[in-house]
Amino acid sequence: MNRQAGMIGFTLNGAAVALPVGDPTRRLSDVLRETLGLTGTKVGCDAGDCGACTVLVGGEPLCACLTPVARVAGKEVTTVEGLGARAGHARLEAAFLRHGAAQCGICTPGMLVAATALLDETPRPTEAEAEAALGGVLCRCTGYRKIIAAVCDAWREPETAPAPEAGQAVGCRIERLDGAAKAAGDLFGADVWRPGGVVVHTIRSPHAHAAFAFGDLAGWAAARGNVAAVLTAADIPGRNAFGTIPAFVDQPALAEGHVRFRGEAVALVAFEDDGGDHETSDFPIRWTPRPTLDAPEAAEAPGAALLFDDRPGNRLVEGRVRRGDAQGALASSAHRVEGEFRTAFVEHAYIEPEAGAAWMEGDTLVIRACTQAPMMDRDETAAILALPPERVRIIPSAVGGGFGSKLDVSLQPLLGLAVLKTGRPARMTYSRAESMASTTKRHPARMRVAVGCDAEGRLTALDFEGVFDTGAYASWGPTVANRVPVHATGPYRVPHVLARARAIHTNNPVSGAFRGFGVPQATIAVECLYDRLADMAGMDRLAFRLANAFRDGDRTATGQVVQGAGIVPCLEALREPWTRALSDAVEANARGGITRRGVGIASCWYGCGNTALPNPSTIRMGLTREGRVVLHQGATDIGQGSNTVIAQIAADAVGVRLSAIDLIGPDTALTPDAGKTSASRQTYVTGRAAEAAGRALRAAILRQANAGEGGRITLAPGAVEIDGARRIDLAALPEDAMGYVVMVEESYDPPTSPLDADGQGAPYAVYGFGAQMVELEVDTALGTVRLLKITAAHDVGRAINPTLAEGQIEGGIAQGIGLALMEEYIPGRTENLHDYLIPTFGDVPPVESHLIEVPHPEGPFGAKGLGEHVLIPTAPAILNAIRHATGAEVTRLPALPHRVLAAIREAKA
Ligand code: FES
Ligand code: FES
Repeated sequence: MNRQAGMIGFTLNGAAVALPVGDPTRRLSDVLRETLGLTGTKVGCDAGDCGACTVLVGGEPLCACLTPVARVAGKEVTTVEGLGARAGHARLEAAFLRHGAAQCGICTPGMLVAATALLDETPRPTEAEAEAALGGVLCRCTGYRKIIAAVCDAWREPETAPAPEAGQAVGCRIERLDGAAKAAGDLFGADVWRPGGVVVHTIRSPHAHAAFAFGDLAGWAAARGNVAAVLTAADIPGRNAFGTIPAFVDQPALAEGHVRFRGEAVALVAFEDDGGDHETSDFPIRWTPRPTLDAPEAAEAPGAALLFDDRPGNRLVEGRVRRGDAQGALASSAHRVEGEFRTAFVEHAYIEPEAGAAWMEGDTLVIRACTQAPMMDRDETAAILALPPERVRIIPSAVGGGFGSKLDVSLQPLLGLAVLKTGRPARMTYSRAESMASTTKRHPARMRVAVGCDAEGRLTALDFEGVFDTGAYASWGPTVANRVPVHATGPYRVPHVLARARAIHTNNPVSGAFRGFGVPQATIAVECLYDRLADMAGMDRLAFRLANAFRDGDRTATGQVVQGAGIVPCLEALREPWTRALSDAVEANARGGITRRGVGIASCWYGCGNTALPNPSTIRMGLTREGRVVLHQGATDIGQGSNTVIAQIAADAVGVRLSAIDLIGPDTALTPDAGKTSASRQTYVTGRAAEAAGRALRAAILRQANAGEGGRITLAPGAVEIDGARRIDLAALPEDAMGYVVMVEESYDPPTSPLDADGQGAPYAVYGFGAQMVELEVDTALGTVRLLKITAAHDVGRAINPTLAEGQIEGGIAQGIGLALMEEYIPGRTENLHDYLIPTFGDVPPVESHLIEVPHPEGPFGAKGLGEHVLIPTAPAILNAIRHATGAEVTRLPALPHRVLAAIREAKA
C-alpha cells in the first residue's frame, strides 16, 4: 500500500510503514528520527552539505534532510539500521572495522549507506569509483583514506584475526572495541532523550557587540502557546560565568545586558516537546549595536575600548620564553631571514553539532551530552546552577568529533537550567549555524619571526613574536599564549631564543583549543623560514633539519634536557622518499608547461598534557566474583580510540587477555577523573594510570594466591588460576561496596616543573615528534594546488595500536590540508558547510605513514601522545612545497588560489 487517504506509506528497511500525512514537506530525516525512532540517520547540517543523513531511496543514496517525506511515498527506504539484512553488509562492516574506517563514527552510517549503493552496482570498485560514490559524505576525523580502503576491500570475506595472547595486546592492530556500535549508528548527543519534556532553543546575538533589553517575555510566551519557560540570566541561581581555566572564568552562560561577540547566548526558550512550531524570530528583544574591535591591531591601539576593565590593552595574557641573547646572536649570524605570517580563524567543523539531554534522577541532575571533559562540565555546571558537584552527573554520549572545541561547556549548563526551572526533562541540539557561530575557533595569528644560522647551517637564534586573536572571552587563550613560546623553535637546537605570544581580546568569536593549541600556527612561520635559511646556507632542506634536530641530552629553549628524542629517526625515515620525490619533481618540471611540481618538508614536536600544570588521571579496576576484570575508564573517546588503547594497556599490565576486560566508559558517577581529552594526553597520562592500575591489580591477585611476581594469571568463570596450578575461588571472597573482590585505583600526574618569568623550566614530561613530506603540483596560471602524496613519520614512543595511530595521522593531515589551503571562518558569512569548506575525499592524497618508536621512560610501555602532533607539520610542508614548485612565498593562510597567484607574481618581480 503506497498511499491511503491521509496516510503516506513506504517500505522502511523491508517493512511497510504508514504515517499520517501531517506536513508532507517534513524532512525525511526528521520523520525517521523523531517519529520512527531510527536515530542511526544522523543530522550534521540539515542543508545537504555533510551527507551524514544519507539513506537509500529506491536504492539511490539521498540526503534525508533534503527529502520531503511525501517524496518517498510508495518507495523503498533503507537506513543504516536496515543494512544488516542485506547480502554483503557483513563484509563491508568487517572491512570498516579492519581498516579503522570509523573514528568518531558520526559519518559512518552515511558512509556505509553510500558505500552500499556503490557495491550493489560495482562489487569491486576502484579507488576513484569509491571516492566518487562517497564524495557527498563529509568526514572530519579519518582523512578518508581508510574509508576508501575499506570500501575497495569489502568484497573480501572477513578473516577472524587471532586474538592476542594474554599480555600481548599492546602493539596489535586490534579493531576498536566500540567499532561495531559505530557501524550500527552509535548514540550521539541528539539520539537519546526523555519523553514528555521540553526542547530548548537559545536566543543569540546577531551582533558582534551590542547592548540589549528584553521586551514582554511573558506576553510573547503566552501568545506562542507552546512555551513552557523563557529563561534569562536573572534565572541563573549560581555564578553566571564559565571558563576552562579557574583564573579566567569570564564568559556568561547567558549574557546580562550586553554581548561581546556574534552568537553569544542571551536567553533560552523551553518549548513543549510536541513536534510543534519552535519559531523564535519574533522573540522580544531590542538590540543596540556598539562599535566593534574586529582585530588585535584595533584592540591594542591606544585608547581602544576595553572588553574587560582589568585587562589593559585588551591583553588576556602574554607567554614568554627567553634564553641567551637572541638579538645579539641574530646580528652576528652568517645567515639571517625574517618574515611575517598570518593565519585565519579555523572552525572545528565536527560533523556532530553540540547536542544533549538532561533530566532529574532523585535530587541529581543528569546531563547526557557530547563532551571532551566530563568532570570540568560537572564542576562548571554545578557552579552556574548553585548545586554541589555531586548532585550533577555528566554522562558523555558518543562524541561526533571534538578536536578541542568540546572541551568548553556549551549547552550543559543551559540544559541543566531548563530542567531545574521547568521541573521536566529537556533536550537541546544546536543547529549547524548556531554551532559554528557560538563555539570556539582556532586562534588567528599574526607572527613576526627572525631566525639565523652560522656558515655551516647550525641554527643560532630565533626571535618570535605572535599576536593571537583570542576573541571575546578567555577560553583556552592563556594555554595558547603559554604553549606557543615553548614550542616556537620546533624540534631543533637553538641556543638563543626570544619567543613571545600574546592573546588579545576582540569582538570576534571566542578562540579556544583546536588540535595543537597555537603550535600549528607558529610552526607554519618557523618551518617556512627554516627552508629559506637552508637555501641561504646552501644546504638540502632535509639535511638542514637533520643537522639541527634534537638529540637526547640537548636543551630546549626552556632549558629542559631532551629525553626520548625521536625527531632524527622521523627525518631519517623520510630520506629515501625525499630523494625520490625531488628527482620526480625535476623530471616533471623538465617537461615544462604551466604546472610545476614541488616537494616540501616540515617537522613538529609537541609536549603531551598541560603546560607546567598538574593534569592527573585516575583509573579504577576491579575483579568480580564472575572472574571478569572491570576497567573504569573515564577518558572520553572522541574518535581517537582511547576506549581501545587504554583497555589494551590495562590488559597487558594485568597480564590477561583483552577479552577478559569489561569497559565502563566515562560517567562522572562511575569513573574516576581521567582528565580531559586534550593536548594528546590520554594515551600517555591516562594510559600510564591504567598501566599502574593494571599492575596493582595483578600484584593484588598474585598476593591472594601467594604467588610470585611472574605468575601467569588466567581468568575463568568464578575463579582465577595462577600458572595453571593455584586457583582462587572468587565466590569465596568478600565483595566490596562496588561488587569487587579485588579493587584498585591508581593515579598518574606527569612530572613537570613551573616556568619562571623567562619561561625556563620543564613544562612537559614527554614530547612526541614527527616530520612530513608533501608532493604537490601548482597550476601557475590558476594558482590552484593539487596534492599528490604525503609521507608522514611520527614518533609515537610505542604504537599501542598501529591502525588507530595511522588513523590519527591521516585525520590530522586532512585537517592540516584544510588549514593550509581552504579553511577560513568569517563570522556571519561562513556559518555553514557549503561556505565553510573542509577537505573532502578528493582533497586528501594518498598518505604513507611511518610509525617510529623511540620509547619514553614516562610513557605506558614507552608510548607518547600523537593526536595534536599529526596536524602540525602538514601546512608548513605544503607551503614549502609551493615555494619549491614556484618560488612563491605564501605568508597568509589559507593559501587560496588568488594568494598563491599573488605570491607567484611577487616571486617573479
Ligand atoms: S544532515 Fe543532511 S546533508 Fe547534512
Ligand atoms: S569518523 Fe567521520 S566524522 Fe568522525
